[in-house]
Amino acid sequence: MVKIESPRIIVRRSGPLSGSVQVPGAKNSVLKLMAATLLAEGDYVLTNVPAITDVHTMAETLGALGVSSSWLGPHELSLTNSGNITPEVPFEKFDKMRASLNVLGPLLTHYGSARINWPGGDDFGGRPINLHVAGLQKMGATVEEGLYDIFAVADRLKGTNIELDIPSVGATENLLTAAIYARGVTVIDNAAREPEVQDLCNMLISMGADIEGIGTSRLIIHGCERGSLKGTKHAVVPDRVQAATYMAAVAVAGGDIVVRSARTEHMEELLNCYARMGVAVTPQRDGVRVTSHERLRAIDFITEPYPGIATDYKPLLLAMLCVSRGEGSVTETLFPGRFRYIEEFRRLGASIAIYGNKATVRGVYELIGSEVRVPDIRAGAALVVAGLVAQGETIVHDIHHIDRGYDDLVGRLSGLGADVTRV
Ligand code: EPU
Repeated sequence: MVKIESPRIIVRRSGPLSGSVQVPGAKNSVLKLMAATLLAEGDYVLTNVPAITDVHTMAETLGALGVSSSWLGPHELSLTNSGNITPEVPFEKFDKMRASLNVLGPLLTHYGSARINWPGGDDFGGRPINLHVAGLQKMGATVEEGLYDIFAVADRLKGTNIELDIPSVGATENLLTAAIYARGVTVIDNAAREPEVQDLCNMLISMGADIEGIGTSRLIIHGCERGSLKGTKHAVVPDRVQAATYMAAVAVAGGDIVVRSARTEHMEELLNCYARMGVAVTPQRDGVRVTSHERLRAIDFITEPYPGIATDYKPLLLAMLCVSRGEGSVTETLFPGRFRYIEEFRRLGASIAIYGNKATVRGVYELIGSEVRVPDIRAGAALVVAGLVAQGETIVHDIHHIDRGYDDLVGRLSGLGADVTRV
């Protein structure tokens, strides 16, 4: 019998890295921008769109709802909402990603009801949606959470004051989009401030929405008449996590690279950490130069909502700590279950201990190549980065997770001189 092997990435010890790499648009922005096209009839063009499988999944979901899409170029996506929308996501379309939840707000506010399936996405333990639901209820919606789906209904939502217990990215985005056609003014306090949330606000404004407080913890949305928004053209914000990935690669493998289009103002806390670990980061006109010539120094850090160290950076920082001098740690405050990949780092010879929501890492001089499985998007990229500083060969399996959020990770790393192939 012929054995069919699934795709995998093979990494060999590499470095020093050199050259430059272009940062694609952010997954966690583009998916929400695509969902926002449900708010208004018209033609949309998104540029700087990353070539990732989650974009295809979202395009399929929108297609099932009535928004068509087609590629104008490798990174340019055209979407058309011709007004023929069915506000119910077919059951089979909806279990792959968290961002699918983002169609709820636009559908409910525009069409008066929405039925969506429970969202999928990376498994970090529990990922509740209570803040989304409580916010919509406060705006006057009736929400039923079934075993398989979520149904929300409201003739017309009403503006109100909502204070989020946690500055949840997804809840902020859903409530923000729901508020667009609510009657009156909606104030969201303790709102998420992430650059991707700001990107969504900026696109909504170019569609005709009235939003104040972008980038702050208080968003004020003045509701518009239903259907008064229009299509637009918008460039997706560069992906700070993909940028951080190439920076982590040069940090562990050594070298001197330029990460083009990286927005340093979106990554200040992270860049401080890189600097404390011994990586030189110099902002340039369109990006950042990153150099690393010595063994990294271990530090302690804590994940926090923006502008703190994002939980999405954590696996990368752990990969760096694995080969740093001394002992460092990372404390997770957002997703306590987001340590499931530690076992994979241990297969590479990393010395990591877990105490509750804190991982303590004792750095080794180099890792040892092995076979590892990818449990989620960011951990997958971090395992590839770790392979750059591992003796022998690291074989990374289950790379479909990486493909969900990384636009040609292998090609981009190879372009910097890393010995990475996809087979
Ligand atoms: N939370 C609740 N109730 C809610 C919503 C969230 O308790 O109703 C809690 C979560 O359990 C978590 C915290 O609030 O403890 C933050 O969750 P948030 O809602 O901010 O996360 P999310 O919207 O589900 C997005 C990104 C994640 C990223 C987090 C945090 C997307 C599609 N996903 O998730 O990105 O880790 O924000 O920044 O935007 C990734 O890209 O790999 C990824 C997982």
